[in-house]
Amino acid sequence: MVKLLIHGPNRLAGELNVHGAKNSTLPLMAAALLCRSECVLHNCPHLSDVDVSARILRHLGCAVTWQGGSLVIDPRCVTQCDIPDGLMREMRSSIVFLGAILSRAGRAVLSFPGGCELGPRPIDLHLQALRKMGAKIVEDYGCLSCSTEGPLHGAAIGLSFPSVGATENIMLAGVLAEGTTVITNAAREPEICDLADFLNRCGAKVSGAGGSTLVIEGVKRLYGCEHRVIPDRIAAATFMSAAAATGGCIRLNQIVPAHLEPVLPSFEELGCCIEMEESSLRISAPARLGRIKSVRTMPYPGFPTDAQAPLMAAACVGSGTSIFVENIFESRYKHVGELLRLGANIKVEGRVAVVEGVPRLSGAPVEAADLRGGAALVVAGLAARGATEVTGVRYMDRGYENLERSLSLLGADIRREYE
Ligand code: EPZ
Repeated sequence: MVKLLIHGPNRLAGELNVHGAKNSTLPLMAAALLCRSECVLHNCPHLSDVDVSARILRHLGCAVTWQGGSLVIDPRCVTQCDIPDGLMREMRSSIVFLGAILSRAGRAVLSFPGGCELGPRPIDLHLQALRKMGAKIVEDYGCLSCSTEGPLHGAAIGLSFPSVGATENIMLAGVLAEGTTVITNAAREPEICDLADFLNRCGAKVSGAGGSTLVIEGVKRLYGCEHRVIPDRIAAATFMSAAAATGGCIRLNQIVPAHLEPVLPSFEELGCCIEMEESSLRISAPARLGRIKSVRTMPYPGFPTDAQAPLMAAACVGSGTSIFVENIFESRYKHVGELLRLGANIKVEGRVAVVEGVPRLSGAPVEAADLRGGAALVVAGLAARGATEVTGVRYMDRGYENLERSLSLLGADIRREYE
């Protein structure tokens, strides 16, 4: 078994380059399927979710190779149109391949991505949209069999919720469809803009990315290109939470300041000072944090749900009461039980978590149950007095590139142990 062993408290200091965004890399890898020539994705993070996506692409017939921090994808020999159940289960977001496989092959067979640590993960918005674009989708025994008579066609699609994955799936299905697709109430996350930038560089005609209405004019073919993946804003927010929780002062390089605007007010309310430069930021925290009146997770440009858990870990050692409201996922407080084991004082009532700051956390063995909740346990362990053992490291490895090395560079006493 693998665990992260942390000895705290340690004030973090130093600087770190933030790795490329997991939630941009995954849809970009799916988009490569639509191209008639090689794609090169620079600044790709080495993460287990990226490895799973690479295995899916190879299963479909693509050649996928790493060249340093770049992924080279040759999609010219795609022969399959299914994603094996095992791979679908390894990564929920494999559903983002559906639109691309359907557009490329005219058929797609996937198993339901299944529920996961964040509660039910429905895909109704994905399926409704693809059916409007001409896909015939049969759902039986947890398997999705999809097909189209000829190419998909454009459609006017209004999303009842600005789903990131559904927006991406519709973009990938629409770029080679016949006619124009208009998405209203589209997701506005930076990862949507990154995908649109990549697709347009390949010859697509996508406009409006970053706003609520996306227009995708179908084209005949796409050719591969080189593209640099945007930095991971959630990884950045996680390192900021670690600095805040330990009263540290760190510099994060290779970030996009605008992508972090939704989280800055919360860190400032905690009492942190943040200086922004062109592609870096410096955050310095007080010896004792304050509190955050309320953090409500919302679709971008609201506070990101993925940063809720790491920020909560910092608020645990603040002074005063911080209130969190998780509006995006039904069950995203699994980390609370484990934070209590470290001495935090948190009460959860449905979507609301009330955090009473405590002067000190104490190290203890804790277990991660999901990616960002696991990161929160690491943040809390850095601030806790004594030894904290975090198991469930496989979850963190899905979304943080060598987390313990990054934190060690910032002065944390943390190492990975293999039992
Ligand atoms: C993406 O997930 C991210 N994953 C998530 O990050 C992130 O938390 C989420 O967007 C919200 O920002 C990737 O990009 C790979 P959604 P996604 O579709 O696309 C409901 C992480 O930690 N919904 O925007 O699955 C859904 O139940 C991960 O990096 C439907 O009801 O998120 C949820 O309540 C976790 N029907 C809400 O929308 C659908 O068809 C948000 O889902 C689709 C979604």
